[in-house]
Amino acid sequence: MYRLVFTQVLRRFDAEAVHHLTVSALALLARLPLLKRLLHRAFAPHDPALRMTAFGVHFPGPLGLAAGFDKDAACAEGVAALGFGHVEVGTITAHGQPGNPRPRLFRLVRERAVINRMGFNNAGAAAAARRLSRTRGVPVVIGVNIGKTKVVPESEAVADYVAAARQLAPMADYLVVNVSSPNTPGLRNLQAVELLRPLLTAVKEVADGTPRRTPLLVKIAPDLADEDVDAVADLAVELGLDGIIATNTTIRHGGETGGLSGRPLKARSLEVLRRLRGKAGDRLTLVSAGGVEDADDVWERILAGATLVQGYTGWIYGGPLWASRIHRQLSRRVRRHGMSSIAEAVGRTACTRS
Ligand SMILES: Cc1cc2nc3c(=O)[nH]c(=O)nc-3n(C[C@H](O)[C@H](O)[C@H](O)COP(=O)(O)O)c2cc1C
Repeated sequence: MYRLVFTQVLRRFDAEAVHHLTVSALALLARLPLLKRLLHRAFAPHDPALRMTAFGVHFPGPLGLAAGFDKDAACAEGVAALGFGHVEVGTITAHGQPGNPRPRLFRLVRERAVINRMGFNNAGAAAAARRLSRTRGVPVVIGVNIGKTKVVPESEAVADYVAAARQLAPMADYLVVNVSSPNTPGLRNLQAVELLRPLLTAVKEVADGTPRRTPLLVKIAPDLADEDVDAVADLAVELGLDGIIATNTTIRHGGETGGLSGRPLKARSLEVLRRLRGKAGDRLTLVSAGGVEDADDVWERILAGATLVQGYTGWIYGGPLWASRIHRQLSRRVRRHGMSSIAEAVGRTACTRS
């Protein structure tokens, strides 16, 4: 049904226009308490066997929405009501900014992929903090992903991230330092350990200083060389970070300028996850993103060592109830494997896909 709506209707409209319409509809849903609760009851993961605990936070299911959809923390409750186990909002920058000129979002339908060069369009940390401080009508785990304001020079990046962290860490269930988006000039240079160390140290001080000590993760690019992936893993362990999100979009493609997501990213994203697990074992919580399309993919990532899995492009092509469907399939799979909890599957790389 959704496939028909997508091919006959949605794909005929500008991708970003459809995106804004969806965010508005979900933001409206978030303001309708009864409907929101009904949908949450019907579609959110409620099976105790799907619960995951990571860095002290309880997630109702392992599959969450990756950063980039709810850039302004406008509709997380609506997203959760459709079946996602968590929502990562952002990327949010200390200062609001318009992002790159349109068009900046392109569907590659045959490849089940998307290219974007949005450029962190968002209303800024203060506006997001106000939204996040409102009480929530349905339970939703919210991660907050922060990035560098475009006009701020690289030499002042640490202060800029710290400014965003100060406003947002108290409202976040976890905080993510994004140094891996390809659409802010120079941002990915911050993944080099000599620049990353002072940045993560400063943001961690802020995250550690909140009343509940906000867990801190770093999000990396799939285009890092393997040795650089290892170096970030070592640094994250050394600094006592809670985890790593791998991966962001890739710039290794021949299409429009921007980052590629979806199916073509699947193999590299899994490879980076395996490398991180090999390097850090269970000393870090690993969150896998990139090309996740179905329950097989989520299961594979969990077996490879991911405690949590995120998707975005898979949702665009899979339809509104994509996450709910995957969680239901995972429930059955956990039982089929004779497990009482999906947490037992984390890192069981010896198991094969089934
Ligand atoms: C339109 C779009 C916008 C995105 N914006 C962000 C962003 O602002 N911050 C970020 O960390 N990742 C962003 N991402 C990357 C996703 O969070 C995710 O890491 C990546 O798309 C791989 O997952 P997927 O293949 O399931 O989409 C964006 C992705 C897309 C498709």
